[in-house]
Amino acid sequence: MVSDTPSLATPDLGRLQRDFEALSGFREPGLPGWTRRVFSEADGAARAWLADAFAQAGLRVSVDAAGNLIGDLDGQSSGPAIVTGSHTDTVAGGGRFDGIVGVLAAIEMVRVMRAAGVSLRSPLRIVDFLGEEPNEFGLSCVGSRAVAGALHPEHLRLRNASGASLAEALARVGNGGDPASARWRSDDVAAFVELHVEQGPRLAEEGVPLAVVSAIAGIHRVGVTFTGQPDHAGTTPMARRHDALCAAAEAILAIEAIAGDEAVATTGRLQLEPGATNVVPGMVRIWAEFRSPSERWLDGLEERVADAVARAAGRRGVSVSIEWFSAVAPVPTHPLVRKAARRAIHGLGHASLELYSGAGHDAAHMAVLAPMGMLFVPSIGGRSHCPEEETHLTDVVTGVEALAATVLELDRQLAPAQP
Ligand code: GLV
Ligand code: MN
Ligand code: MN
Repeated sequence: MVSDTPSLATPDLGRLQRDFEALSGFREPGLPGWTRRVFSEADGAARAWLADAFAQAGLRVSVDAAGNLIGDLDGQSSGPAIVTGSHTDTVAGGGRFDGIVGVLAAIEMVRVMRAAGVSLRSPLRIVDFLGEEPNEFGLSCVGSRAVAGALHPEHLRLRNASGASLAEALARVGNGGDPASARWRSDDVAAFVELHVEQGPRLAEEGVPLAVVSAIAGIHRVGVTFTGQPDHAGTTPMARRHDALCAAAEAILAIEAIAGDEAVATTGRLQLEPGATNVVPGMVRIWAEFRSPSERWLDGLEERVADAVARAAGRRGVSVSIEWFSAVAPVPTHPLVRKAARRAIHGLGHASLELYSGAGHDAAHMAVLAPMGMLFVPSIGGRSHCPEEETHLTDVVTGVEALAATVLELDRQLAPAQP
């Protein structure tokens, strides 16, 4: 055991189960899985429920101009805060644990700390970041970008299929202020640590309850529009066609090949016009992303993609336009947080792995403000971004304990003891 760690009550599994059940009840009707996309009615209702849960746990609740739900707890001193949290929006057809674990565990951590009469030297801040998953505007991590000063005017001008701008959507869910006002200063934050499900198979396969994350993948996202020529599918000879979908299909395979061994590449979304069986496709838009832990691999990616899609389009006399939405560099976690997490896990008597995260996280943006780190708990079968995504609640309990112990360890290291 870490000798001077205050003892906390065991997190309450029954209470956590009720929280997971309550939150998963807020889902978009008619869609598969546990869908709760940002800006949906279900997301608004879920976050109203969460605000209440924050308040009942004893947190001072606020919503910023970027729609982040924030819960603050005073420390013994008024320095920079130790911050934890994650997100509660899901992908379409997603699960009940991605992001949600980090938010519900943080609330449970506050409950057990307060029940044990433990107060930190530093202020403690819990955040449910708005819209971590890629949204209808093509942007992910909206709330954490805003906090980190990385939500730029061109992001706010992005429009969804109905023509509404991201700025307008934020005005509905935020406090009505200028999204730029959601930005934090570095001296607001002492450290950031996020608990998350692994979303991959390693912990479950190796029977280890926790991982300390070494780095978060860099992610670059792109939209490519292929404009060909809609024509009669029965009368247009094959040699005279400008089939936008065939060009896009070749480009999708080229994108897959670009991944090689050091990256992953996915084309996950496609829009097709006119979308009729008897018409040669005239316009196709694809959305793709590339992820790699290697900055060197990501370097020059834009040229490699532009070249591959231009060749695919050129073969069919189809024109192409490319729009890059976001480019987040790989982010290593901070040694200070990794060390605190390892000490905390060791103190609890658990084994842990060190894992790299192929998934993106709000933590990647928080790293510009303060030392950042992450903890993973196992995902059953490694499944995620699907309705079957699940983590044993006993593992979530272990995650709450590890998160609390890491926060206490950081507090001891970062905040001066009171005289
Ligand atoms: C977030 O879940 C991501 O990695 O896409
Ligand atoms: Mn996700
Ligand atoms: Mn997530």
